[in-house]
Amino acid sequence: MKTVTINQLDKFEGQEVQLKGWVYNTRNIGKIWFLIFRDGTGLVQGVVVKGEATDESFNLEQDLNQEDSVILTGTVRKEPRSVGGYELGIKEIHVVNHVTEEFPISPKEHGADFLMSNRHLWLRSKRQNAIMRVRHQIVKAIRDFFDDHGFTLIDSPIFTGNAVEGTTTLFEVDYFERSAYLTQSGQLYQEAGATAFGKTYCFGPTFRAEKSKTRRHLTEFWMVEPEMAYVDLDENMTWAENLVGAIIHRVLEQCQPELKTLERDVSKLEGIIPPFPRITYDEAAKILKEKGSDFEYGHDFGAAHETLLSEQFDKPIMVHRWPAGIKAFYMKRDEHNNDLALGVDMIAPEGYGEMIGGGQREDDIDILINTIRHHDLPLEPFKWYLDLRKFGSVPHSGFGLGLERTVAWICGTKHIRETIPFPRTMSRLEP
Ligand code: 4AD
Ligand code: MG
Repeated sequence: MKTVTINQLDKFEGQEVQLKGWVYNTRNIGKIWFLIFRDGTGLVQGVVVKGEATDESFNLEQDLNQEDSVILTGTVRKEPRSVGGYELGIKEIHVVNHVTEEFPISPKEHGADFLMSNRHLWLRSKRQNAIMRVRHQIVKAIRDFFDDHGFTLIDSPIFTGNAVEGTTTLFEVDYFERSAYLTQSGQLYQEAGATAFGKTYCFGPTFRAEKSKTRRHLTEFWMVEPEMAYVDLDENMTWAENLVGAIIHRVLEQCQPELKTLERDVSKLEGIIPPFPRITYDEAAKILKEKGSDFEYGHDFGAAHETLLSEQFDKPIMVHRWPAGIKAFYMKRDEHNNDLALGVDMIAPEGYGEMIGGGQREDDIDILINTIRHHDLPLEPFKWYLDLRKFGSVPHSGFGLGLERTVAWICGTKHIRETIPFPRTMSRLEP
């Protein structure tokens, strides 16, 4: 007997197959009953008719509970009125494991906190299943994009001896006789990678001890970070917009059923084709002022400012050339204005906020030593990093795209915690 999955049923019309999965629901209409069944790839309706199914299977109806693990044998039939367009005429139901308690997550409304506390079970629901499938495709699209464009994967370490993105969001851990930090970004190691391989990327978990409870912040999130030798800020922005364009293209191509489940307005995604608008920080500040915002020049944008800015465009926007004082120590200064750093933030449409941060890196060793000191960072842990400027320093750039913020935007989820299988926030370490 061939074991198949629900998402492949169209290839097995008229054939007898086996499906392995779980009971979702049962419904009785007299002489026949229906078994709504899920296997992780979708839902299908099984039709159980006396005489067609074995007596033992037919008599199971009263005994089955949501999430019982079962193996079904039956014939695939086309049924346009049924979920997925196919149904299974059931011959046999084999119960693998019987649930004796009521499943905590029922179709009725639950609060977000309850659902998050039951995340290990909530992942089985249709909406969460759709989000994780989109996330999977986005990860695949990102890897394909870099692999197809001559990048080499160079994994950055997670234990590090130094800060990258400021010292206020560092997780410190005991590391034998000394302290180590969970990495905030793999960037510095990619800079070593770029001088060794030309173009590299890393893609892994990063950590920020963010004491913020916004719907955009996690303490553990995934970031993809490309780094490129002999690339300036402009070309860096071209890479960033092309990456996002490739992600959107892939999701629209592969994830229509999921986007439908999520009730995502896909027309808003269909227009996301590069090039994207590029505006300077100064121009962005001007727009905010014209729109009557409380924004103060010289500061970072808050969530409300980002939303107001993104509303002026129907594509992601890239804001570049920032006041150096609010950007990281490694950013190169604009040769035309030493107060500006050659950084770029990409802000997602529809109020989803900053999804990419990056820029051109300082390649002069003396300037870099000064800025490290100026940021009150110890020089010693950066010795290796400074070597990259001693030996074969070149103009180079890169960026980091936050996976969960990207998934949140594309799926249209309100809160970032739904976009990662097991979210970590200030208040959540379990499950
Ligand atoms: O802007 P950030 O801090 O940039 C860096 O870490 C650079 N070193 C990257 C580089 O140039 N290689 O972070 C980059 C992105 C943000 O734009 C955002 O999408 C995401 O990482 N991000 C977070 N996502 C979820 N929760 C948080 N606490 C995040 N902090 C940053
Ligand atoms: Mg940033």
